[in-house]
Amino acid sequence: MTNTMQETIEAVKKSFQADLDSFPTDSREIDALKSKYFGRKGALANLFSQMGKISPEERPNAGKLINDLKQELTEIFAAKVAKLIDTSNQSTENVDYTLPGEMQRTGTIHPVTKTLQEVKDIFKSIGFMVAYGPEIDDDYHNFTALNFPQHHPARDMQDTFFVQKDVVLRTHTSNVQIHLMEHTEPPLRYIVPGRVYRNEAISFKSYCLFHQIEGLVVDKYISFADLKGTLEYFVKRVFGNDVRMRFRPSFFPFTEPSAEVDIWDDNRQQWLEILGCGMVDPAVFENVGYDTNIWHGYAFGLGIERIAMLKYGITDIRLFFQGDKRFLEQF
Ligand code: DAH
Repeated sequence: MTNTMQETIEAVKKSFQADLDSFPTDSREIDALKSKYFGRKGALANLFSQMGKISPEERPNAGKLINDLKQELTEIFAAKVAKLIDTSNQSTENVDYTLPGEMQRTGTIHPVTKTLQEVKDIFKSIGFMVAYGPEIDDDYHNFTALNFPQHHPARDMQDTFFVQKDVVLRTHTSNVQIHLMEHTEPPLRYIVPGRVYRNEAISFKSYCLFHQIEGLVVDKYISFADLKGTLEYFVKRVFGNDVRMRFRPSFFPFTEPSAEVDIWDDNRQQWLEILGCGMVDPAVFENVGYDTNIWHGYAFGLGIERIAMLKYGITDIRLFFQGDKRFLEQF
């Protein structure tokens, strides 16, 4: 048999394979492929038509080869089409819509993040701006400038995590009051969210790390009534109008007079402190160079975990820091 016939058969087979590899899925393309090889003017018909040019001795053998090729291609083609119908059935008609769906597990927002966001939104809605400050700070901004006497117990190793001498993990967000006033001319009205650290006994209501939102308002005519009105408005927006709250006289070195706000904790049947506040002590204004004859102000510091505990009925602050999904998934 001539080499050319053998080669032509090989070439048809190769091109058929290549076409199959990029097998069409649309029925018009499948028909086109079918006629390209099996049609009246297709590749196979073309091979048969060349039989006449082959010498009579070689003809039977050549005929057999072409017939074998035809059979092989027909089988491959049929199998491919059958498989195509099969998979297209699977994606449309073989779906059992009554089977239960697959659970999509998504994360949840941490209750502390949720509460932070809610508190921020409330203060933003009444004209407060948001600022941030350093978690590692010097003794001056965390204590001295806030009018803590040199030997005040709050500087004690018991309460403060020292990074090195005179550098601390801030024990409250009040340090940012000083940073803000050092860089901003009054009037100002800010809240400052952030993490704070305390080296103290851990209990159901105290942890070595927690979140605060500091508030600072400085203007010409600011009184304790403004402070009370703002905080009462805030508490009612968080806990509703029927909340039981009380202002209790207190002491902070950087405010005079000072108070704390307690909320009635129904779970424990006792008061829980959620914030400290007061009128900014003139000594603090002097430390940042504000004229105390012109400027007055109030400040407050809210404990976010305490608010979240009351809001969601959580009885142990440690739950916020354990990353237990059984707890977190409830929010
Ligand atoms: N820094 C205080 C604390 O962490 C809370 C506080 C009290 C903040 C009175 C204030 C304030 O701004 O005026 O316990």
